[in-house]
Amino acid sequence: MDFELTEEQSAVRDAARDFAQNVLLPGVIERDEKQLFPTEEIRQLGELGFLGMMVDPKYGGGGMDAVSYVLAMEEISKVDASASVVMSVNNSLVCWGLEAYGTEEQKQKYLTRLSTGEIIGAFCLSEPEAGSDATSQRTLAVRKGDHYILNGTKNWITNGSTASVYLVIAQTDPEKGHKGISAFIVEKGQEGFIVGAKENKLGIRGSDTHTLMFQDVKVPVSNRIGEDGFGFTFAMKTLSGGRIGIASQALGIASGAMELAIAYSKEREAFGKPISRHQAIAFKLADMATEIEAARLLCLQAAYLKDAGKNYDQEGSMAKLFASSAAMRITVEAVQVHGGYGFVKEYHVERLMRDAKITQIYEGTSEVQKMVISRGLLRD
Ligand code: CAA
Repeated sequence: MDFELTEEQSAVRDAARDFAQNVLLPGVIERDEKQLFPTEEIRQLGELGFLGMMVDPKYGGGGMDAVSYVLAMEEISKVDASASVVMSVNNSLVCWGLEAYGTEEQKQKYLTRLSTGEIIGAFCLSEPEAGSDATSQRTLAVRKGDHYILNGTKNWITNGSTASVYLVIAQTDPEKGHKGISAFIVEKGQEGFIVGAKENKLGIRGSDTHTLMFQDVKVPVSNRIGEDGFGFTFAMKTLSGGRIGIASQALGIASGAMELAIAYSKEREAFGKPISRHQAIAFKLADMATEIEAARLLCLQAAYLKDAGKNYDQEGSMAKLFASSAAMRITVEAVQVHGGYGFVKEYHVERLMRDAKITQIYEGTSEVQKMVISRGLLRD
């Protein structure tokens, strides 16, 4: 593994940093407070090529590697984790899933618009009774000739009302358990597809999270992704890459909080000197930097393996497990470094602390990551 970034990778990171500082930062506190989706900011992210970064240019994507994706996710997440979850879901779950397993017709019809950000997508796996236990799907798709009739409810769906295209996982043959699960492309506006109320969340409040209901929605067979029964494998494969995205989001939240803590500690004086000169604070910064470096290396390693065409299931889970816990610890400490100022919104760190929590939950909880890692270790 080469620790030097290429010129292109550095340029991607710098472009993402500029965008985050100049475009995302000015309105981020207001969007968080009022739960406003970053519509214009996401449109611009798409224009810059950040919504389909790894997609082949022949489908409108940026043709970049996963390392560049990690670097860009870190920079965007330092400032606005609500924007970066939109970016992560669109890139690693929706675009990647369609590019890897979609038909040519599906790619031409959907991927070409998703990868440019003309439209955004959502990934619908979780249900009221199927979160970590993802094989317990209750959403049912029954084949009737050249289409399926889809019924069920999906929970916690990122981009729930803002997406135009939804990748929906559903049971097609309940007798077969996880081998009877399939994946479908559903479009917004189809009869019987209802977007439920928006969730009022602790963090990533600018992102748009909804319950979705499907009531006799007619889905053409041509909108099935892969063969009948491929849906669970599709979800697992897609989530393996998604976990690199969320690990990088956690990394960004942590490094954003550390940068703020360093800047504040150099300015703020107590007992006759900047608080950064007190060991109590300096050691906190040292711990933060060490954990962030370790998290970054895990994220880059998983991305490097993905780029090399090797298996990255365990490494992606390790990156997410470690980076999300580090983000939680580091953001709490960053609030502590800021003292009372850390507890008010203007200083950003309280938001980063709230945003960090979801990285230990979505795209597989920390406990699920430990299942994936330990099963990999114990496999014969
Ligand atoms: N690739 C291919 N196949 C895989 C796989 C992978 N990465 N992981 C599992 N499988 C296969 C297994 O080999 C097995 O197949 P066989 O029976 O043929 O061997 C099958 O899938 C079932 O696997 P398990 O027996 O391991 O299944 P399990 O019920 O014990 O659970 C789990 C496995 C890892 C816990 C899985 O259910 C899981 O990942 N749960 C978490 C779900 C999740 O991450 N949800 C996130 C929602 S999406 C989201 O958050 C997006 C967002 O909006 C931000």
